[in-house]
Amino acid sequence: MSGNDPKDPKDSASVRPVSTTSGAKGDAEAASSQAPNFSHSSPSERSGSRVSPLTTDDEQWMDVALAHAKNGRPSPNPHVGAIVVKDGHVVGSAHHERAGTDHAEIAALRAAGAHTRGASLYVTLEPCNHHGRTPPCTDAILASHVARVVIGVRDPNPHVEGGGLERLRQAGIEVVEGVREEKARARIAPWAKHITIALPYVSLKLALSLDGRIATRTGESKWVTGPDARAKVHLLRSKSDGIAIGIGTALADDPRLTVRDAPGESPVRIVFDTKLRLPPASRLVQTARETRLLVLCGHDASVEAEEQLGALGVECLRMPVLAEGRIDVFAALRGLAQRGIVNLMVEGGAELAGSFLAGRFADELHVFVAPILLGPRGRAGAVDWAGPDTPQTAPRIKAPAWELVGHDAYVHGPLLYPD
Ligand SMILES: NC(=O)c1ccc[n+]([C@@H]2O[C@H](COP(=O)([O-])OP(=O)(O)OC[C@H]3O[C@@H](n4cnc5c(N)ncnc54)[C@H](OP(=O)(O)O)[C@@H]3O)[C@@H](O)[C@H]2O)c1
Repeated sequence: MSGNDPKDPKDSASVRPVSTTSGAKGDAEAASSQAPNFSHSSPSERSGSRVSPLTTDDEQWMDVALAHAKNGRPSPNPHVGAIVVKDGHVVGSAHHERAGTDHAEIAALRAAGAHTRGASLYVTLEPCNHHGRTPPCTDAILASHVARVVIGVRDPNPHVEGGGLERLRQAGIEVVEGVREEKARARIAPWAKHITIALPYVSLKLALSLDGRIATRTGESKWVTGPDARAKVHLLRSKSDGIAIGIGTALADDPRLTVRDAPGESPVRIVFDTKLRLPPASRLVQTARETRLLVLCGHDASVEAEEQLGALGVECLRMPVLAEGRIDVFAALRGLAQRGIVNLMVEGGAELAGSFLAGRFADELHVFVAPILLGPRGRAGAVDWAGPDTPQTAPRIKAPAWELVGHDAYVHGPLLYPD
């Protein structure tokens, strides 16, 4: 959690926001256009809710709360940020750091201390009104005597929707909702998918040459991209609960799949391996006691291989196998969601990437393009699948964000699958 001292001029968040110009607004609009939607309604669409007028300042303070919401590793809880604003200054700010710790609004109110009376609380997600691992946030909000509560998006959890705001309104607090709603919804997209349809939110990562290859003709893919791109991938890994590859990549590259070039913990490593071909001497298996390793195999996989891997600390999960003889990705995702995997990063190779795209299981694409040419005799391409009939029906990043990472281009964003 972070707290702000209102008297500290170094704290940029304690400065009153400037008027809306291209900077903050443009950023919010770009993010809003990318927000995936797992069935939500806007405030005006919801009957019976009293909607209070919002101000331009509200939008800019919500941007500050949304910036805080990026922090922490709260999975399986959502990313949430909150700030307390009094007399045009931030007097408390926080994010939800980890499941089981204070929710963002509680931590922000605590950071604000004696300054909460009459203040405005900005929180990116509707405060909870029920007992979970922590008491209801609405209790603490009422006890803090804030005058206004401004929220980004209503809680999409079917068990708690609406409860928090109604309770605050009934207690006489002015409540404004739907401020930077699309951006706030994008921030909770993985958690929203997990709680509404019980599947992980999948980010598909690919590293390509300029001619769309992921490995050389000898199968070598270390390294297609440069060190800066690899550090970025490690950062993405550190924000994921699970990271998946196919057995083809495990055999070709002998990767560790741990987080090394970025701060943060390594996610659970997952290998799609129908016939349990993963070698006990592989680096994945040899590190299974330090970093969890799940191997998804078919019902017919060798019991002997399972016992051998199990003795080395590997968890083998038997999964349904489709007619083409491979792990059923939907069943695998269900099983991973049940084991608390909310954010799943798929790192390839081409066949596993193809299965995820063909089944429309990938929610986001993260592609690094290196300024090299690998030629046509290696792997057929970055993604091994039938592909769309026309460019118009191709999966696409609707509002792609392009960045230069070292010498490599990095394009990313939520995927759309036109019918
Ligand atoms: N540049 C990059 O970003 C990058 C990233 C990763 C890999 N690579 C390169 O890619 C190459 C390996 O790619 P690949 O396509 O051969 O391997 P892959 O996609 O990693 O693994 C494919 C194998 O996974 C197993 N599998 C199980 N269930 C599956 C499912 N539902 N869908 C797809 N596969 C499933 C299958 O083997 P079983 O039937 O035996 O289970 C399949 O043959 C290597 O050369 C590696 O260096 C490059």
